[in-house]
Amino acid sequence: MSTETTGLTVPGHIAIIMDGNGRWAQERGQFRLFGHKAGVQAVREVVETARSLGVRYLTLYAFSTENWRRPENEVSGLMALLQSYLKAELKTMLRNDIRLCCLGEVQQLPVEVGQVLEKTMAKTAHCSAMVLNLALSYGGRNELLRVARNLARECEQGTLHWADIDETLFTGRLYSAGQPDPDLLIRTGGEHRLSNFLLWQLSYAELYFTDTKWPDFRCQHLVAAIEAYNQRQRRFGKTGDQVQQPEPL
Ligand code: FPP
Repeated sequence: MSTETTGLTVPGHIAIIMDGNGRWAQERGQFRLFGHKAGVQAVREVVETARSLGVRYLTLYAFSTENWRRPENEVSGLMALLQSYLKAELKTMLRNDIRLCCLGEVQQLPVEVGQVLEKTMAKTAHCSAMVLNLALSYGGRNELLRVARNLARECEQGTLHWADIDETLFTGRLYSAGQPDPDLLIRTGGEHRLSNFLLWQLSYAELYFTDTKWPDFRCQHLVAAIEAYNQRQRRFGKTGDQVQQPEPL
């Protein structure tokens, strides 16, 4: 599938809160981990579809800083799924020219997950068709605090002047430094909140919520979200008339 076949404007950066795995499993009388396992298949399909549509950046919220508070067996099960996903997908990422990046406190992850993550990031570092960001042990407030502390330290050391801190400098210190902000945020599973995800970067994103639970999310659901995005007028603070008219030369 391509932009030509769908006739849609494809967002350059799509971020997804993959919610609903636990409820999906419980509805089927299964343990929550069953839902996460099914969710991995949805990840595969969405990555493949995004890549073939021409999305340049895809950011998936796979594990939040708050998720460490979940029962130990769920946390270890999720870590094991992540590890096996990364091992299994390396070849596909290379074939599809996908670069893996990570947002979050990677050092908090179990050593073996950290190692496979580092290896996958290094081996795909030259890939350029799409960046796949996995948000792992990620929290938006945590990310902002980390930037604030680093900048404060530099001011204290005299290598930075407080008046030189502007949006560009701040953006360049985020985990997502060098990447454009998401154009479209999708949240599955029926909840309508941000859950501490990309608090700075989502400032101007179009928000799309669907009741579809993540394990059921497929190619056609991604296309439906992109179709909804195509109905939005992005004004970035301007009036509707201004954005419809070309900028004067
Ligand atoms: C939220 O659903 C989902 C998560 C906390 C984990 C998401 C993980 C995966 C989709 C699989 C592993 C990821 C990769 C990238 C291989 P929830 O469990 O909070 O759902 P609920 O609201 O129904 O309880």
